[in-house]
Amino acid sequence: MYNNIEDLFNFDKPPVWFMRQAGRYMHEYNLIKSNFSNFFDMCRNVKAVKEITLLPVKKFDFDAAIIFSDILIILECLDVNVEFISGIGPVVDNKNIYKIFKDRNPIVNYDKLNPVYESINSVKQELKKMNKPLIGFSGAPWTIAAYLLEGKLSKDIITAKDIAYKDPQLINNIIGVLSDIIIEHISKQIESGADMVQVFDTHSNILDYSAIRSLSVEPVIKICKEIKNRYSGVPISYFSKNTNYDFKNLFDYIDIISFNSTVRMKDYINKFPEKIVFQGNLDPVKLLSGGEGMKKTILEILHDMKSKNFIFNLGHGILPQTPRKNVEDCLSIIRNFNS
Ligand code: CP3
Repeated sequence: MYNNIEDLFNFDKPPVWFMRQAGRYMHEYNLIKSNFSNFFDMCRNVKAVKEITLLPVKKFDFDAAIIFSDILIILECLDVNVEFISGIGPVVDNKNIYKIFKDRNPIVNYDKLNPVYESINSVKQELKKMNKPLIGFSGAPWTIAAYLLEGKLSKDIITAKDIAYKDPQLINNIIGVLSDIIIEHISKQIESGADMVQVFDTHSNILDYSAIRSLSVEPVIKICKEIKNRYSGVPISYFSKNTNYDFKNLFDYIDIISFNSTVRMKDYINKFPEKIVFQGNLDPVKLLSGGEGMKKTILEILHDMKSKNFIFNLGHGILPQTPRKNVEDCLSIIRNFNS
């Protein structure tokens, strides 16, 4: 196990990885995917997960791999079914939520997640040879709860917010139960070989200020605190679309902050403790567009971040339509950058 983030990455040049770096923009990924009728079947297939996780690292020489899985997979251990429907996204069967979350002690079948840990173990053997770190991850409780309550992707997430605001008992049970599962899920990923973990709280930004605190940030703090208690040396990265960051204690427990594309990271340098590594934040659509516009923004980000330990990433997941050449161009601009 590593002891600090500088053992994972060499910051002389910004290391780079992309959210969803193994995905539909890669022909090789689509080929593997065509063998499966169900997304989670693929996520549970250790051989496929190993191959998919390593694809972008081998093709583009990214500086880290992120284990191929999904934040919604933990719902399976509560016997909540999730289908991924092309053109719609995840569809969560939420008809039993009042029964499942009537208290804080539902039956949790953790064994369903074993393939994730076996995959981590198997990918790690390969990555060791390449001397690259493996990133594990989890969703944050509110972001997973949003999908659970909403049932399927929606623009405003009104149903989930409405339930959260008017049924405190249900939402507190859901957040509490998910937090416990997430702590175990992250722990087992670390035990299986993940060198760093990223917590995705994508939908934090859609709540009002007090609910952001109680339903999103405080549960994340609780989770990160417990992980740091158990594995003090493993870096934790936090991604959210909420950029208020008005919650100081979080920075006691996280090591990396992963920015979306709406902010200029430079403006945040003095707002964070120096030890916090910044990660981000090229707009995935700029990567898709490529050309001079992309180049200009990449160079601006690299200039802005020169004085910090910085990991280059996107502001959100790479889009399926992204031309491969733009990924290559982006990486070559980063690697040829002389500060
Ligand atoms: O980053 C990686 O390469 C690791 C794998 C990963 C996936 N999902 C694979 C995936 C990670 C880290 C995630 C996180 C995730 N999943 C988040 C948080 C980050 C974010 O994007 O906001 C969320 C909200 C989800 C839930 C989810 N999974 C949605 C909304 C969708 C549908 C949207 C889409 O992009 O199609 C998924 C499906 C999904 N998860 C895909 C992949 C590669 C696409 C599935 C496919 O190949 O058809």
